[in-house]
Amino acid sequence: MEKLYEGKAKVLYPEGEEALRVYFKDEATAYNAQKRGLIPGKGVVNNKVSAALFRHLEAHGVRTHFLKELSDREMLVWRVEIIPLEVILRYRVAGSFAKRYGLPEGQALKTPLLEFSLKNDALGDPLICENAALALGIVDEETLSRVKDLTLRTGDLLRGFFAARGLELVDFKLEFGRKGGQVLLADELSPDTMRLWDVQTGERMDKDRFRRDLPGVEAAYQEVLRRVLEG
Ligand code: TMP
Repeated sequence: MEKLYEGKAKVLYPEGEEALRVYFKDEATAYNAQKRGLIPGKGVVNNKVSAALFRHLEAHGVRTHFLKELSDREMLVWRVEIIPLEVILRYRVAGSFAKRYGLPEGQALKTPLLEFSLKNDALGDPLICENAALALGIVDEETLSRVKDLTLRTGDLLRGFFAARGLELVDFKLEFGRKGGQVLLADELSPDTMRLWDVQTGERMDKDRFRRDLPGVEAAYQEVLRRVLEG
């Protein structure tokens, strides 16, 4: 079957007019694809974790592009028009936020912090403020407000879901798409797109292990899957 699009971690295949088949790869990239590698089994973990989280969100009223799991590495999703923004919600200082402000990682933020990046690999996904996103017509006021509400609601639901599994959701990235008049949560929800710290040990259980050349990358992904599935 002909590919519609191949990204860094996923391949998209058309499934009729209205749907797509998403294939999750084991390839991993970091720092805007300057670092490349393989995390064996990652595609299976990310497909299954994403499916479980999309189901959880749907069960709590967040509309997503998820339709069903097709295989260990594939899911069926609605075809949406992706809004070219990466929506990041942070609960603690970490990653690029720590670097930007010269802070050590770990400090809890007084309030959850919502940030936007423009989805543009050539520019390295630069941070964009709400006014610029409005001025450029990337979103209108109503869509922006919807995206923000959905992100905060998703954050609350995911924080609770992971807390019950001994993991703290430190930050995450979402992408949204338009289908008809609706805004749907799209892309994936996985250890590639969120920071998860073990509540007991503080161990990083996400892609930071790969980014920072820490040992046990595969094992961390498998452990996240185990906890997500076993509840
Ligand atoms: P950051 O601290 O590197 O900006 O990342 C914030 C969150 O967004 C973190 O959970 C990882 C996720 N993320 C992605 O999913 N894709 C990306 O390209 C980047 C830079 C971050």
